[in-house]
Amino acid sequence: SDPDPLQDFCVADLSASTSVNGFLCKPASNVSSDDFFFDGLSKEGNTSNIFGSNVTAANVLSFPGLNTLGSSINRVDFAIGGVNPPHSHPRSTETDLVISGQVLVGFVTTGNVYFSKVLTAGQIFVIPRGLVHFQKNVGPGKALIFTTFNSQLPGASVVPLNLFASTPSIPNDVLTKTFQVGDDVVNSIKSKFVVKL
Ligand code: GLV
Ligand code: MN
Repeated sequence: SDPDPLQDFCVADLSASTSVNGFLCKPASNVSSDDFFFDGLSKEGNTSNIFGSNVTAANVLSFPGLNTLGSSINRVDFAIGGVNPPHSHPRSTETDLVISGQVLVGFVTTGNVYFSKVLTAGQIFVIPRGLVHFQKNVGPGKALIFTTFNSQLPGASVVPLNLFASTPSIPNDVLTKTFQVGDDVVNSIKSKFVVKL
């Protein structure tokens, strides 16, 4: 859902000191085939973290050739039992394609209705723009999915990190009242996220 492009391409010059709504274009005379190529999704991500998952992003920041094209793609690796925790993309719808393993994909609407499906290789599920969603590896081994976006930079608001790992912190009295629990529970959750992913 990014704006329509006004030219064939506009490979981002990420080093430019100014930008627009997006990035400045590098001179077309300096553009080569390599600007439309990205090898960063060929390797398995490191899932040794508390969630047992890893997102490798091919967005405009890692792959400047995507600038103005309204498209990006992630690789998400899952250890056994791994979860990509609830999050939302303010600027994009997402489609999830399972390459291997069995993955539970779910989202919740603004009206708190939950939709989900367990997917296997070749199957896809669509996450409407802006809605909170997650994936969990529910198979016996590792799992791999690719997620595609109609934005060059979908953005990700990760619910647990937004609420319990912001800088500076959301005050405990906000979180204890919100979740109807004591400081002990809030502090316990916050402590889990002190070491950032
Ligand atoms: C998965 O939900 C992703 O955002 O890549
Ligand atoms: Mn997502």
